Amino acid sequence: MSSGPILVFDSGVGGLSVVKALRDHLPGAALVYTCDNAMLPYGLREDEWLVGRILRVCEAAVTASHCVTLVVACNTASTLALDALRERLTIPVVGTVPAIKPGAALSLSGHFGLLATRATVSRPYTLGLIEAFAADCHVTRVAADALVREAERWLAGEPPDLEVIRQALAPLWADPALDTVVLGCTHFPLLRDFLVASAPRTIQWIDSSDAIARRTAQVAIGVAPHQGPGESLVTAIDPRMNAGLARFGFAPPHLLALD
Ligand code: DGL
Repeated sequence: MSSGPILVFDSGVGGLSVVKALRDHLPGAALVYTCDNAMLPYGLREDEWLVGRILRVCEAAVTASHCVTLVVACNTASTLALDALRERLTIPVVGTVPAIKPGAALSLSGHFGLLATRATVSRPYTLGLIEAFAADCHVTRVAADALVREAERWLAGEPPDLEVIRQALAPLWADPALDTVVLGCTHFPLLRDFLVASAPRTIQWIDSSDAIARRTAQVAIGVAPHQGPGESLVTAIDPRMNAGLARFGFAPPHLLALD
C-alpha cells in the first residue's frame, strides 16, 4: 500500500493551530500544509462561490501532495463544504467545526460565547449544533472577522492591534454570566494570550484542535514518516508567511497550481 502525508488545509495560517495538536498526537507523521491565502478571508465570502473554490483548491492540493488524509482545519470551510469534499475525494476528510458540545459541557453557568467568522456564526450547520447540544444554554454568537487579520499579522511577526482585539471581544462581555468562549475559527487560538489578556475576568477558552487531532489519528492510514521540514503549498506567494510556517515545521511555500 502506498503511503503519504496528512494534508492540512485552511484559508490562511489558522490551520497551524491544528498542526500543533496534530504534532502532539501524531509526532511521527509527515504533514503538508496548504492554504488559499489568495482568497483570505473566507469568512466574508459568498457561500456558493466558496464551495466551488474550496473543492478546487483541496482537489489540487490532494493531487499535488499525494496525501492519505485531508484535515480541513477551517471552521468556515467545514461548516459549508464537508459533504461536498467527502463526495468528491476518495481519502478520509476530517473537518473542524465549533466545539459547541464541549462548550455546553464545560460552562458552569450555561452561558457561553461562540467567537467565529461571520459565516460560521450564522451557518445552519452551527445553528444545528447549538440546537442539538446547547439548547438549554445561553449562547452569545459573535462574528469576529477582524481577528483573522490580526492572527495573520501575529504569525508574520507583527504585534496584533490590541484595540481591534478589545472591540472584537466586547459583545461577549454583555452577558455577565458568560464563563466560557468557544473559539470557532482556527485563527483565534493563535491569539490566545492576547484574548486572555483582553478579557475582563477569567474565562475558559475552548477550541477543537485536540479533538481533530484525535479523530485524524483514528482515520489516517498509511501515513508517511515525518522527515525534515514539511512541504507547504499556497495560492499566493507571500514571504511574510515563511517565518510562521517555519515555526510549525514547514519549508517556505510553493505555489499550488490550480486547474
Ligand atoms: N481559519 C478559518 C476558520 O476556521 C477562517 C478564516 C477566514 O475567514 O478565512 O473559520
